[in-house]
Amino acid sequence: MHDTTGPLERQSLVGVSRRSFLATATAALAAGRFAALPVEAAGPSMKDAYRGAFLIGTALDFRRPDEFSAAELDIITSQFNTITPENSMKPGPVHPQENSWNWTPPDALVGFCEKNAITVMGHTLVWHSQTNPWFFDGATREVALQRMRDHIHALVGRYKGKIAGWDVVNEAINDGGDATTAATENLRTAPWLKTVGPDYLVQAFKFAREADPAAALHYNDYNIESGPKHQSSLRLLERLKSEGAPITTVGIQGHWSVARVTNEKLDDIERAIENYKALKLKVAITELDLTMTGEGGGQLGGGGRGRGAAAPPSAEMLQAQAAAYAKLFALFLKHKDVIDRVTFWGLNDARSWRAGQNPLVFDRDNQAKPALQAIVEVAKRG
Ligand code: XIL
Repeated sequence: MHDTTGPLERQSLVGVSRRSFLATATAALAAGRFAALPVEAAGPSMKDAYRGAFLIGTALDFRRPDEFSAAELDIITSQFNTITPENSMKPGPVHPQENSWNWTPPDALVGFCEKNAITVMGHTLVWHSQTNPWFFDGATREVALQRMRDHIHALVGRYKGKIAGWDVVNEAINDGGDATTAATENLRTAPWLKTVGPDYLVQAFKFAREADPAAALHYNDYNIESGPKHQSSLRLLERLKSEGAPITTVGIQGHWSVARVTNEKLDDIERAIENYKALKLKVAITELDLTMTGEGGGQLGGGGRGRGAAAPPSAEMLQAQAAAYAKLFALFLKHKDVIDRVTFWGLNDARSWRAGQNPLVFDRDNQAKPALQAIVEVAKRG
């Protein structure tokens, strides 16, 4: 069950008695964790502030049993009530060959979450990236569909009842677009599309529903809140529904930049949330990060963009990031009836896939940045 000996600062924040505060400190000391618990590390708790509105998540993997430091574990258990595996459940890492599975890292993640009463969200079943070519080797449509079904049944089935929802199809729509593509689904020419045809998405959703009758089933993508790609997402989602795909939720990834959180962008996001709601779908913000410098965006590659050392952010940059996060969370809170989760893509700036651009709310030393306080304040104001 949930470990109630959480970080000292959180215990004191929620106003527990001095006695239990001391008991917590003693327990931490006994566990040898005291030195690794800087009072300012975790700050106020986001998951507590947004309890009753939506879940607050992070993305990570247990690549090794000792993957995380004590300070990181404190952040995970005090700040977040949902976790998405950043890589370990993707087709390539978990199912590299038809008869070979890597269960150790995903099992470790699910076990950790069970022990700490954290909701697990699965990511991702069908994607053009991080998917080994064996799925398509010499495959007819029937063979590819059989491999897809086997993959989904084995993975979703293993964690049935332990994973609350899955990103069933990831990033099926092309980037960019124009007035012409906006009237179409503008599907990416991914191997699944080429081998199976445009119904590959419907099939994936049906297989996921067979494997777990209760899980939330997501279509997940980036940039679908704006422009022609948003219009294409509406076309696609309408079709999925009309063809009987058991989709419940749209995942707006939310790989943005501080500079991009303009009033126009906020309007786009709000309209997208309302449009998805009108299709009777829930919305999750699944991969939130706001790069402080350079471009944001969900595109993969780019020559390791964002990797490597970042210059320490100035006070102005930290404030600008806090303000941008606050605006987004105020919008999410306004739409809490349809938003069921907001997940950050990574734990801290050092571990982020955009590490060189400092996009998260915990810095490289696991200290809370001003954004954390700003996000919590939004919830307090209601
Ligand atoms: C990224 C991971 O963060 C990286 O570690 C990995 O090298 C590439 O994938 N959209 C998604 C995520 O749906 O799976 C991607 O995660 C980021 C973009």
